[in-house]
Amino acid sequence: MRQFTEDTLTDAVLARLKDAKNPRFKQIITGAVKHLHAFARDVQLTEEEWFEGIKFLTAVGQKCDDKRQEFILLSDILGLSMMVVALNHKTAPGATEATVLGPFFAHGAPEFEYGADFTKGATVEGETTWVTGRVLSTDGKPLSSAALDIWQARANGVYDIQDPEAEFELRGRVLTNAEGRYAFKTYKPQFYGVPDDGPVGDLLRAMGRHPMRPAHMHAIVSADGYQQVITHVFVAGDPYLDSDAVFAVKESLIGEFRKVDSPAEAKKLGLPAPFLRLDWDFHLAPAGTGQTRRTVAASDAVT
Ligand code: BEZ
Ligand code: FE
Repeated sequence: MRQFTEDTLTDAVLARLKDAKNPRFKQIITGAVKHLHAFARDVQLTEEEWFEGIKFLTAVGQKCDDKRQEFILLSDILGLSMMVVALNHKTAPGATEATVLGPFFAHGAPEFEYGADFTKGATVEGETTWVTGRVLSTDGKPLSSAALDIWQARANGVYDIQDPEAEFELRGRVLTNAEGRYAFKTYKPQFYGVPDDGPVGDLLRAMGRHPMRPAHMHAIVSADGYQQVITHVFVAGDPYLDSDAVFAVKESLIGEFRKVDSPAEAKKLGLPAPFLRLDWDFHLAPAGTGQTRRTVAASDAVT
């Protein structure tokens, strides 16, 4: 057949996939075509609207460079990134829940001993915070030499890597000690807006949405023989917990940053009084459990 209608076009496009070799690729493209066509039919897309969409995606691509990934940001604010996290990280019972990685992780951050000072040389000051806890297996065994890669926004809501004046600020890698315990000094993270000076910002405004993320600390926690978790600790009481621009909040990831007034406790830790304290344990599932990645079934094949 050469000529197609809105009712026959989808099947015609799918039929042209008959020589595609990779079954998983075929499955994904089939889904994309089906859903794109259904979407156009559903909203009765006009040519002007189609071209607005093309212009928008072009602008998203043009905004990308080696530091800025506007497509990932688009995926984040549409909830697609968290959908992919949800599909791929069915948390094993008792394990710390995963959430988005975000664009501000940086390789090569300094490694620190127990009790690290992430505020050293900081160009932006904040409220001194002592973060401590353990990394445990889901059956309660403390894990020594587990690595915690930590990063967070500064008190001005800007990450070090967004600031040409700053270098590795409020970020680093700490290892757990023989008791599975870690500790570091940092400043309290601040809420911030995702970059909204590009097409994704325009989209947020058109949707009547704000770009804010509730204050959080990022962590990637890894230990040999255990599933790595990419997660956050959110700050209890933050005004944006219910409207995170990227839908990444999970109830189990909200932590209390408690105020400690005791000068004796401050002195013991070499901190100014008062200071804030977050006690937070991470729980890792043994490798090979809890992940439920969907595999291609024979019934998914396009014939
Ligand atoms: C972040 O938490 O760093 C982040 C996540 C998604 C989009 C922008 C920032
Ligand atoms: Fe963040």
